[in-house]
Amino acid sequence: MPPYDTVIAIKWQDNHLKLLDQRLLPHQLVWLDIRNTDETLAAIRDMVVRGAPAIGITAAYGIVMAARAQYASSPRDWRSLIRSDLEQLRDARPTAVNLAWAVDRMERVFNQVNGEPVTRLLQEARAIHEEDIAANQHMGELGAELILPGKGVLTHCNAGSLATGGYGTALGVIRRAWQKKRIDAVYADETRPWLQGARLTAWELIEDGIPTSLVVEGAASALMASGRIGWVIVGSDRIAANGDVANKIGTCNLAIIARYYGVKFMVVAPVSSCDPAMPSGNEIPIEGRDSNEILSLSGQRIAAQKATAWNPVFDVTPAELVDAIVTEKAVITRPDRVKMKVLWD
Ligand code: MRU
Repeated sequence: MPPYDTVIAIKWQDNHLKLLDQRLLPHQLVWLDIRNTDETLAAIRDMVVRGAPAIGITAAYGIVMAARAQYASSPRDWRSLIRSDLEQLRDARPTAVNLAWAVDRMERVFNQVNGEPVTRLLQEARAIHEEDIAANQHMGELGAELILPGKGVLTHCNAGSLATGGYGTALGVIRRAWQKKRIDAVYADETRPWLQGARLTAWELIEDGIPTSLVVEGAASALMASGRIGWVIVGSDRIAANGDVANKIGTCNLAIIARYYGVKFMVVAPVSSCDPAMPSGNEIPIEGRDSNEILSLSGQRIAAQKATAWNPVFDVTPAELVDAIVTEKAVITRPDRVKMKVLWD
């Protein structure tokens, strides 16, 4: 394992999936046993596992378990019986394209398989998992190269080991840049309403020996005006063909403020998060979640009794506000539709 990288959240063990329950972090470390499609779907929808690459990997292992069950009950018809499992997994969360990407990749494999499918499907799910970690390590290297020493960075949500197969996208760059002494401080937005920054990013970076200061999202302008940070570094759930970036709600605010103060804005995401079929960010489906996520905290109502809430959980940052998109295939500076083509040619 490279330095500053110890956190793991997804394991295939004893013929089933094990997920670290991210709803309970950082105060409790509880591993859940996931053994079938319903449990896989619930884990993705209920945020046991979250982060675009991590839910894609989870769905891939979910398909292994679905195929095993369907093949055991009907060795002749398992391919048609598994269809509804696939569609449900594909739609479990709508914004992250990694889900559909992983389901499509598994589907291509089982369309070719003859006889018992589980061995080959498990091999593919493991490959998806391992390739994600390798991509993150490579992106960490590429992204760290862009950072001039002497300043801090700000990150949003959690785009770390917990959100991926391991190492992380935005946090992979931060891990590598910290190791190379290219950043001198890490700031993390607390990230309402799920507090992925306060609960997950701060926990995983501190576990790995990287000091982290939390800021409320409203502090972004003051932080950037103070001159303390050189880059905002975030992940993405889906990048459109023109370079528009969907990511956790509040990301676009940061990009706008960063441009005003001359702070650079970096998006770190594997090619599996890039969607050539999505012409621009306007067409990316944005997940809306229950308003109670805003009105309550830890199950306790905090908002005024009759208050309502609007809860879109992702936003779209226009490509023109992005200084660099770092993928494992290429680093695209000042992205646009033409430059993005290098990812798909
Ligand atoms: O709602 P979440 O926690 O799944 O949102 C996650 C994010 O927005 C991440 O930044 C994104 O998935 C990239 S993870 C490498």
